[in-house]
Parts: sequence; structure tokens; C-alpha cells
Amino acid sequence: MDIQAVYLLLPLALGIIFIARTIERRASKLPPGPWGLPVIGSLHRLGAKPHQSLAQLAGRHGPIMSLKLGQVTAVVISSAPAARLVLQKQDHSFANRAIPDSISACGHDEVSVVWRPVSPRWRELRRICVSEIFSCHKMEACGGLRRDKVHQMVRDVSRIAALGEPVLIGEAAFRTMLSLISCMVLSVDVADGNSKAAAEFKKSFSGILELAGVPNSVDYFPWLRMIDPQRIRARMAAHFEKILRFTDSMIDERMRQKKLDQEQGSVSENRDVLDTLVDILLHEHSLTKKEANHLMLELFVAGTDTTSSTVEWAMSEALRSPRILSRAKAELVQVTGKGGRVEEKDIPRLPYLQAIVKETMRMHPPAPLLVPRTTLAQVDLGGFTIPKGAQIMVNVWAIGRDPGTWDSPERFEPERFLGSDVDMRGGGGRFELVPFGGGRRMCPGIPLASRMIHLMLGSLIHSFDWKLEGGAKMEDIDMDDKFGLSLQKARPLRAVPLAPL
Ligand code: HEM
Repeated sequence: MDIQAVYLLLPLALGIIFIARTIERRASKLPPGPWGLPVIGSLHRLGAKPHQSLAQLAGRHGPIMSLKLGQVTAVVISSAPAARLVLQKQDHSFANRAIPDSISACGHDEVSVVWRPVSPRWRELRRICVSEIFSCHKMEACGGLRRDKVHQMVRDVSRIAALGEPVLIGEAAFRTMLSLISCMVLSVDVADGNSKAAAEFKKSFSGILELAGVPNSVDYFPWLRMIDPQRIRARMAAHFEKILRFTDSMIDERMRQKKLDQEQGSVSENRDVLDTLVDILLHEHSLTKKEANHLMLELFVAGTDTTSSTVEWAMSEALRSPRILSRAKAELVQVTGKGGRVEEKDIPRLPYLQAIVKETMRMHPPAPLLVPRTTLAQVDLGGFTIPKGAQIMVNVWAIGRDPGTWDSPERFEPERFLGSDVDMRGGGGRFELVPFGGGRRMCPGIPLASRMIHLMLGSLIHSFDWKLEGGAKMEDIDMDDKFGLSLQKARPLRAVPLAPL
């Protein structure tokens, strides 16, 4: 075939493919979406920041958009009304998770509250989370621990202030959350890494957080599962095993202790989540040891990075704006007194601090695409047909910046939330701010996350003045983001605390 014939036939072939695909899409009533290349579909369009590239594509194709990612049909939701359909009105059809391959390491997906399908076993795990771990009563009971951990963070920052050195804000918040969760769950502080076991735990835990954010070819081409070409599942399994071995031995030890106490007729108060789980294991039998073990692992993974990155984003936004910082400081002084500590009981009287947190969640949601869901059967959604096995992503990053919903969406303006009924659980039923998801799979850790974000942020703002190294200007703080397990700052915030008030 000569070159001229190729030039003539190529556009013809592409035209035929285009028409065939359009007819196929119309016939199947799939939501509109971009054209995909053979084999990879639209994978090449995701780039390093899928939340942003998908938002851009949705601008062209609509708030319910479908696209092929490798072999997977993905549906992206990018408006508040469409999010409400998926997370509330038709929640029953979208309540199951699309499971990343790495999560099947050590059979984690089969016993996990985050990943297993809606079923009686999942309901029981969910009940344990909501009623036994994050209930008001349980939250009250560990209020002193949260207070101590935040105070410890302030003391650590004060020490650094005395040396005139910079603090990595995200790291300080992460360490505080890790320390809190490990004391809440196990009554052991793994954050200090002092013992060999704690140091190994910390190392494996960091490995899990890092691997969970790496794009994995198996998730788009499931037939690669046998090969695990990037060895993500294998490496994840090695990290899971180390942590699970550690927590498993703690379960054994606590069960032994509880049985001994019972025999001696002594009843002790439950100190931590492990005590609660061991009680359920021994008396209610509604939980297996493997489920208890994996549940503890999940509390660490779900609760640390998400919460600490929110504090880092909020501090970055507050430091960049002298107006916001001074208004937040004035409110804190008025409510807690000059030099006073920020306490949980103060949070309801700190509407401006709460507004900063909401505005941070709007612009920098820790889980920008939530935790993807899937369909177990074909579903009608907003006049389209979503096929069985589609992956559903709710782009809360795009919803938070939708100009149809928010005035000047690119401006960080906490004032927009003052006097408004928008909360972070789908507020007022409009679903414009849903960083914790919604419906039956909504994050059960909100009571803990919300308390800790307000406490850490309020304390960092109230207890210190801040400057940047080398006289850099606050308004120049870099706000670029990095997609991973949670949405992180591309360049961590380093700021120099000035001696406490
Ligand atoms: C689920 C966000 C903190 C435990 C989720 C989901 C999101 C989320 C988006 C999926 C919701 C859905 O599918 O609708 C966040 C954010 C946090 C945070 C933004 C902090 C800023 C925590 C904490 C814990 C936790 C502190 C516990 C220590 C869980 C669990 C699930 C979950 C167990 C799975 C629920 C289920 O599938 O039934 N979270 N989370 N999260 N989160 Fe959180």
C-alpha cells in the first residue's frame, strides 16, 4: 500500500471507529465521556493528579461521566446533585467498594470493614466501629488522652521554638495522630519508635501508606494479577504481616489476661479498643480474631494521614492570609483567654476555626475521589445506565470547586461558612461538602477526626506566632498538591514557631 492510500484510509478508519463507539455508547446509555485509545482507554489522561484531570474532563463531558481506564469502566461523579444520588438516594446500589489489588494482600479485603462488601459480617464490624469505638461515650472516655497528645505536640513545638528552628507541620500532626491512635487502640505508643517493635511497626506502617498511594497497573488490567508486575501486593503483604504479627500477639496476651481476671473474679474497666474487641471475642463471639486484628490495622491506616494532612493544609492557608490568621487568633483569645489551652469544650464556641476547617475540606479534601465504590448489578443513574462492575469515583475535589455551587471557588474564604447550615456530612442535604463520603459507608471516624483537627489546628494557631525560614513571604507558601493515599502538599509546610505566648 502506498503512503497516499494510508493517508486516505487512516481518517476513514478513525471515523468508522468514532461512529461505532458513539452508536455503542448511545445504545448502552453509558454516561458521556472522552474517547479512549485501544487497550489503555483514557488511562493516559489521568496523569499524576487524577482528581484535577478528571475535573477538567467532567467540565467537557458532564457531572456523570464514564471513561475506560484500561479494562475498567469508570464513572466519575462531579456535581453535588449527582453525588447525592450516589451517596444517599441510590446508596444501596453503590455501597460496595472497588478493591485495589494491594488490599487483597494477606486476605485483608475479605475481613476488612473498609473494603468488604455490604453483608451481615460488614454490618457487625460497622456496628462495632460506630457503637463500640466512636460512640459519644467512648469518645468522652478518651478525651484526656487526646488532650495529653495535643499538649505533647505543643510542648514539642515549644522546644523547637526555643531553638529558633522550623517545624514540619504535617509531620508534627502525623506523629500526634499516630501516637493517639496507637494509645487509643493498644495502649502502646508506637510513634516514639523507642522499642524495636515500635520502630518496626512505624517502618511497616509508613511502607503501607506509601504503597497504597502508588498507581498499580493490576487495578486497570486485572489479568496482570498473577504477575503483580510492580510487586505492590507482595510488598504490601510483607508490611501487613509485620504489623499483624505485632497486634496478634497483643490480642493473645490480652485474652490470656482477661481470662485470668475472670477466673479470679476481678473485673477491670476497658482501657482501649483492644480491650473492647477482646471482650467481644470472648463473650459475644460476633467477631473473629482475624477480623479484630485487621480492624485495628485499618484504624491506623484510615485515621492518621487523612487527619494530619488536613491540619497541614489548614495551617498553610491560615499562614498565607494575615486576615484569616489574625481573625482566628482573636477568636481563640476571646474564647480560651490569652495563653490558655484550646479544649474540646471550646470547639462549639469557635465558629471561625470551624469555618477554616470546612473551607480546607472544600479545597483540599484528603480523599479527593473518596474511597471508590462499585456496582454489583447494572444500575440506572440520572438517566444513564451504569454497567455491573463499574468503578464509581465521587470527585469531591471538583465538587468543592464547582463554580455552579460556590462563589469564587478558587478563593480560600472561611467566611462563606459563617451562619450557613453546610456541615461536612452532606450539610443541609445538598451534598456540596462531603469529604467523609455519605450513606451507609460514610466515614465512622468523624467524631475522632473532627475533634483532633480542631484541637491541633487551634493549638498551633493560638500557642505560637509563625514565620517562614530565610524571611520568605507567607503569601508565597506553595499550595501545589500531590495525589496518593491522601491528598498531600507537594512541598511540606516548614514554618518557624516563635516563642509561645
Ligand atoms: C471511610 C474520609 C478519618 C475510619 C472513609 C471514607 C472517606 C473517609 C471518604 C469513605 C466514605 C464513603 O465511601 O462514603 C476520611 C477523612 C478523615 C478520616 C477525610 C480525616 C480528615 C478517619 C479516622 C478513622 C477513619 C480518624 C478512624 C480512626 C474510617 C473507616 C472507614 C472510613 C473504618 C470505612 C467505612 C466503611 O466502609 O464502612 N473515610 N476519614 N477515618 N474511614 Fe475515614
